Amino acid sequence: MCGPEILNVLCAEHHGKGYAVEAARTVIERVRETTDVTSMCLTTDAPNTGSRIVAEKLGFAEVAVVTAYGADDMVFYARDIRR
Ligand SMILES: CC(C)(COP(=O)(O)OP(=O)(O)OC[C@H]1O[C@@H](n2cnc3c(N)ncnc32)[C@H](O)[C@@H]1OP(=O)(O)O)[C@@H](O)C(=O)NCCC(=O)NCCS
Repeated sequence: MCGPEILNVLCAEHHGKGYAVEAARTVIERVRETTDVTSMCLTTDAPNTGSRIVAEKLGFAEVAVVTAYGADDMVFYARDIRR
């Protein structure tokens, strides 16, 4: 289960203001409304607490730890966006 991948990167001065969750929710809603995509995914490195919290707040579930983007401890999340 994986459709388009969602990636959040904000300038440091804008961290901690809720923008990542708000922006990603808007993107997911737009994908749901305008496409037939049923699932989306997100990948983050294991120590990235902020990114992992964002993933969980967005309703993504951890699927596996994978090798990706040159690292062997990337956490792969997925979500059915139709639920
Ligand atoms: C990860 C990132 C996108 C989070 O963006 P953000 O706008 O600061 O996140 P939000 O403000 O929406 O935070 C959502 C929740 O996560 C928590 N959180 C965010 N960063 C955190 C951190 N470093 N440690 C602990 N909790 C954190 C917030 O407290 C918030 O929880 P709350 O709603 O209970 O208060 C941002 O820190 C970033 O751009 N980092 C650098 C790039 C990066 O690592 N991107 C991810 C690549 S996979």
